[in-house]
Amino acid sequence: MNTLILHIDKETDPELEAAAAILRNGGTVIFPTETVYGLGANALSADAAQKIYEAKGRPSDNPLIVHIARWDQIHEIAAEVPACAERLAACFWPGPLTLILKKRAVVPNQVTGGLDTVAVRLPAHPIARRLIALAGVPVAAPSANLSGKPSPTRSAHVVQDMDGRVDCIICGGDAIGGVESTVLDLTVMPPMILRPGGISLEQLEAEVPGVGVDPALETAHNRAPRAPGMKYAHYAPDAPMTVFEGDERACAAALETAVHEALAAGRRVAVLAFEDYREAYTEAGAIFFSLGSKSRPEEAANRLFQSLRACNDACVDQILAQAVSEKGIGLAVMNRMRKAAGGNVVRV
Ligand code: TXA
Ligand code: MG
Repeated sequence: MNTLILHIDKETDPELEAAAAILRNGGTVIFPTETVYGLGANALSADAAQKIYEAKGRPSDNPLIVHIARWDQIHEIAAEVPACAERLAACFWPGPLTLILKKRAVVPNQVTGGLDTVAVRLPAHPIARRLIALAGVPVAAPSANLSGKPSPTRSAHVVQDMDGRVDCIICGGDAIGGVESTVLDLTVMPPMILRPGGISLEQLEAEVPGVGVDPALETAHNRAPRAPGMKYAHYAPDAPMTVFEGDERACAAALETAVHEALAAGRRVAVLAFEDYREAYTEAGAIFFSLGSKSRPEEAANRLFQSLRACNDACVDQILAQAVSEKGIGLAVMNRMRKAAGGNVVRV
């Protein structure tokens, strides 16, 4: 397949119309959002949605998020829009929050993985919103990575994974958020977080007292998660990865010991840790990728996926990562980090 690559840095760029026409005609377009890049197709077409699964190599029981450009489009795809949805949208849309609602019949089963619910999000990125508005249809879009790989936050990652597999790629700069949207199920009472993301538990608690968290998120492996996508191996870098959790100093020391062991065994080792530790681990002989400042967890969110991809590019044999606090966006970061490590966590 010949992929049209467009470099667009403003939503007013007339070239966006070409991409919108591809969506309208049932094709696939990768576009930037404020969380990660998305791989979009017309959400009202079963055939178009099918192309998404093929391009990603994604299991077809894993439902897609439907992106809209304006609030009132929600009524096109959701059968019931509770007052709570309206309130949350007023607070957090446009932005990284996805709401699970009862679906309308027009939304094909291919989009919802056969469920009677649909995931809806109104993204904040101006290019994403303009593209969806121009397309004139809601746009189903998972993260634009090959299934199982780290989600793409830079256009170069998308081109690497998807050139030749989709009709069009819009290169539109870096995705700032770095972790995907929060998935919130509004079909249950109290509403439940199925995937932590860009809008934090604390932010939601302020609007939805008693909001729950899917127990499967806490017990990592022994329960079936309610968001079908959460059961698959995810975000995996090429090299085995270990996460060190617990008291920060004790973790740092345990991590350093692990670095020495890996190097002694002749392995190329990468460390993902806060900027404060750069010197210590670099001097120890590791390749260092910074999670930013400890006091700014949004930096860890922004850098996690690109660091995992950088580990692949650096052909490391082993990855050791320092856990971050689970406050705020940190909950989403730790969810991704543990999954990337395949649950390989050392509690110090
Ligand atoms: O930030 C994001 O959400 C990005 C950008 C592109 O918008 N998209 C994204 O999509 O992360 P994806 O497909 O990688 O993840 C969607 C998640 C999956 O875990 C999926 O199982 C869950 O949402 N999901 C979708 N529809 C659902 C539904 N009806 N019920 C429960 N979970 C659903
Ligand atoms: Mg994804």
